Amino acid sequence: MGRIIGILSGKGGVGKTTTVANVGTALASYFKKSVIIVDCNITTSHLSLYLGMYYSPVTLNQVLTGKAKIQEAIYDYHVPGLRVIPASLSLKDLRGVDVSRLKKVIKKLSDEADIVLLDGAPGMGREAMATIRASDEVLFISTPFVPSTMDIIKSHQVALEIGVKPIGIMLNMVGKERYELSVDEVEQLAELPIVISVPMDKNVLRSLALKTPVVLFDPASPASRQFFELAGQMIGEKYIPDTFLTRLMRFFGMIK
Ligand SMILES: Nc1ncnc2c1ncn2[C@@H]1O[C@H](COP(=O)(O)OP(=O)(O)OP(=O)(O)O)[C@@H](O)[C@H]1O
Ligand SMILES: [Mg+2]
Repeated sequence: MGRIIGILSGKGGVGKTTTVANVGTALASYFKKSVIIVDCNITTSHLSLYLGMYYSPVTLNQVLTGKAKIQEAIYDYHVPGLRVIPASLSLKDLRGVDVSRLKKVIKKLSDEADIVLLDGAPGMGREAMATIRASDEVLFISTPFVPSTMDIIKSHQVALEIGVKPIGIMLNMVGKERYELSVDEVEQLAELPIVISVPMDKNVLRSLALKTPVVLFDPASPASRQFFELAGQMIGEKYIPDTFLTRLMRFFGMIK
């Protein structure tokens, strides 16, 4: 049975879609897992745009209107092992969408992949709530500032009430400014562990312009290394960065 992990935040624009695209790619490309990433942010869907998938005849919208089966909305990405379920980019496809069906349709994916990552909508509206309900575990994304951290507190409470296991927080777009909250401060405020800190990295924006996950565009960039690390943590495996030393060690069979 595959694990279904929701990627959520209270505040918008903190890096959920970026995380889903990159951790999904890292799990498939580096850790050789079978992964499905799903755009559950139906009203403002972005996942397909981040991956350069502009036309998908069947999307999650048709599944949630009862017009298609979830299996018909699964598309292969060019990274072996990674598949994508996009949401429609068209306004007219919102008509008739019933997000209360999400849990039932997502459950069907647990036989199809090792890991299913759900890209949630921000906040606690119907879409976000449906994504939490459809998840076995949730990872919260926050920036090192008070508003996004405070919003995690509410989402965390909701997850606990629903009975979904919180993995912790990924702190994103971290800089070195003194006005940022520290890891300790975020952990104390949110009462959740920070599982990883991802730095503010221009390569993420460069890769977005090229519609390619940064872990493919520049695997050695500071943000990419953290996305690989997070992917490894999720499945209890170690990520070993590709350096001259590790290549040498691999050549002599000292590491895998
Ligand atoms: N570590 C990072 N360094 C630099 N830019 C980043 C980083 N993470 C995300 N971004 C950029 O921040 C913007 C918002 O990211 P993203 O779309 O992933 O957020 P989101 O939480 O999914 O937003 P929404 O709530 O609207 O769905 C994007 O332009 C993305 O490229
Ligand atoms: Mg998003």
